[in-house]
Amino acid sequence: MAKIAFSLLCVPILMGYCFVSCLALELSNFTDQSALLIFKSYLDLGSRNILENNWSSVVNVCDWMGVSCSSLHERVTVLNLHDMGLRGTIPPQIGNLSFLIYLDLSNNSFHGQLPNELGHLRRLEYLDMRQNYFTGRIPYNIFNISSLRVISVPSNNLSGSLPVDICYHLPKLEQLLLSSNDLDGPIPYKISKCSQLRRLILYANRFTGRIPREIGNFTMLETLVLSENKLGGS
Ligand SMILES: *[C@@H]1O[C@H](CO)[C@@H](O)[C@H](O)[C@H]1NC(C)=O
Ligand SMILES: *[C@@H]1O[C@H](CO)[C@@H](O)[C@H](O)[C@H]1NC(C)=O
Ligand SMILES: *[C@@H]1O[C@H](CO)[C@@H](O)[C@H](O)[C@H]1NC(C)=O
Ligand SMILES: *[C@@H]1O[C@H](CO)[C@@H](O)[C@H](O)[C@H]1NC(C)=O
Ligand SMILES: *[C@@H]1O[C@H](CO)[C@@H](O)[C@H](O)[C@H]1NC(C)=O
Ligand SMILES: *[C@@H]1O[C@H](CO)[C@@H](O)[C@H](O)[C@H]1NC(C)=O
Ligand SMILES: *[C@@H]1O[C@H](CO)[C@@H](O)[C@H](O)[C@H]1NC(C)=O
Repeated sequence: MAKIAFSLLCVPILMGYCFVSCLALELSNFTDQSALLIFKSYLDLGSRNILENNWSSVVNVCDWMGVSCSSLHERVTVLNLHDMGLRGTIPPQIGNLSFLIYLDLSNNSFHGQLPNELGHLRRLEYLDMRQNYFTGRIPYNIFNISSLRVISVPSNNLSGSLPVDICYHLPKLEQLLLSSNDLDGPIPYKISKCSQLRRLILYANRFTGRIPREIGNFTMLETLVLSENKLGGS
């Protein structure tokens, strides 16, 4: 009797659970798809053609060019569109790709600002936007994505300074690549809190002040390039 009561109780719960989780699965990869369709709509017409037929709403988003998904939940984990001659701006909806681990838009002709919503990508490990025409400041909240290992935005036209607390939430950061931009202000001395840093490449900007002596305390550092700035001191 207890068993029957148990199953009478349990079956609807299980069905309810499946209903909710299956619905969640559908809804969530739908979120990824709609975010990427909006991304596509922000591309200039000429460059959109490369993705026009491929990024189609009748095809599973996981089969789109440059997109890879986690096998378990079919959520987008990789967006790799480097060297594709794409032109346009990045919409805030990119921040809706909440399972994204790897984002490579390097060597295209994207312009405009990096959206603040990049900071919503809580699982991001690799960010590469090098060789584009991005302007404005680096959204400070990307420095709060504690999973990041690589921040690579060299050869753009970014301005503004780096936040003093740049490394407070980046325990895994191995590469900070910001050369050939228009960045100014001091190199934050608390950068030493990024204790896993192997490559720090900041040349060809307008950084001022002295080279933080804390840099001498990096134990993992392999490459340090600070030339073509306005740095002083010893
Ligand atoms: C979401 O995943 C389901 C199950 O794998 C798949 O059938 C569907 O095509 C996907 N939806 C989108 C919008 O990619
Ligand atoms: C989209 O491109 C990918 C990778 O190049 C390819 O495997 C896939 O078949 C293409 N899909 C369509 C619908 O053209
Ligand atoms: C950049 O992308 C173009 C194709 O759009 C390619 O021809 C060129 O070799 C790439 N340059 C670098 C430095 O990767
Ligand atoms: C996607 O992002 C936009 C802008 O950040 C937001 O307004 C919207 O609610 C998000 N949509 C979904 C389905 O998460
Ligand atoms: C980063 O996170 C800390 C708390 O973890 C918060 O105080 C700070 O405002 C955040 N900074 C940004 C730029 O989001
Ligand atoms: C960079 O931006 C400045 C204005 O902030 C502009 O004068 C300059 O032409 C831009 N350089 C490039 C290479 O786009
Ligand atoms: C460098 O590390 C040593 C030993 O941990 C410490 O005593 C010193 O204060 C550090 N120097 C700077 C400039 O952070």
